Amino acid sequence: MNDPSLRAELDAAVAAIKKALPPDAKPTIGLILGSGLGAWADRLKDAVVIPYERIPGIPVSTVQGHAGRLVYGYVDSAGRREAVFALQGRVHTYEGHELARAAFPARVLVALGCKVLVVTNAAGGVDAKLTPGDIVILKDHLNLMGGSPLRGHNDADLGPRFPDMTDAYAVRWREHARAAGEAVGMKLREGIYAALPGPQYETPAEVRMVRTLGADLVGMSTVPEVIVARHMGAEVLGLSCVTNLAAGVTGDKLSHDEVTETANRVSRQFMALLDEIVLRDAPRG
Ligand code: HPA
Repeated sequence: MNDPSLRAELDAAVAAIKKALPPDAKPTIGLILGSGLGAWADRLKDAVVIPYERIPGIPVSTVQGHAGRLVYGYVDSAGRREAVFALQGRVHTYEGHELARAAFPARVLVALGCKVLVVTNAAGGVDAKLTPGDIVILKDHLNLMGGSPLRGHNDADLGPRFPDMTDAYAVRWREHARAAGEAVGMKLREGIYAALPGPQYETPAEVRMVRTLGADLVGMSTVPEVIVARHMGAEVLGLSCVTNLAAGVTGDKLSHDEVTETANRVSRQFMALLDEIVLRDAPRG
């Protein structure tokens, strides 16, 4: 899909969304909500909900627990109010989509005017010091998905052929998240996220491999979105919920039920953190 028609596809998606929004809707924060977090967007005030079916180019997610809707609305708490876009339901490459397609919803958020993309996910803890339920601020990643969402034609109006990835996860947004965590009573750690294609969980040997390579967390998403957001010049904040320890760390078998159970258990806390991240004085300019 990275051919000269990408721009037209992006314009069509943006036009379809803008048609449904109030004319003064101009959020600068966009969020992609991972497993267990979709309900965060249900709490937005004055919301406009747009199902993916009505947005050309965004495939409908097939994963249980991923709703498939873009929500525009306000985080509204204790007299503070901020508009956001949130994606309930992520598109994964293991569903059969190419990396560029899986990352397309992130491009749409940036094209709508988001200056920062907040990406959240469920991940396995590779670092044995992590505990299920921990929330970790991403400081870097390893792209082990076997390709790039930028492969193919580059539209220079969207971004450079060879984008810099030095500050994939903006330091100021990492600090912002840490301060937001303190404000809601959470001590957040930082870690490096390794993205593998899935959908099978890793073998213990693969987990040892990514640990040797420097990873603290492992998952099957997020990195394509981060790459296209950086390509288009948006800043990124990444947050992982450690839903389980990765394969081989304890010897216990992994299951999607465990992942969703932990994600649901910490979702209230995670949602309070997202509220605070959106509402407290954000880095700008
Ligand atoms: N591995 C990969 N993806 C995941 C995991 C895991 O252990 N837990 C949640 N998503």
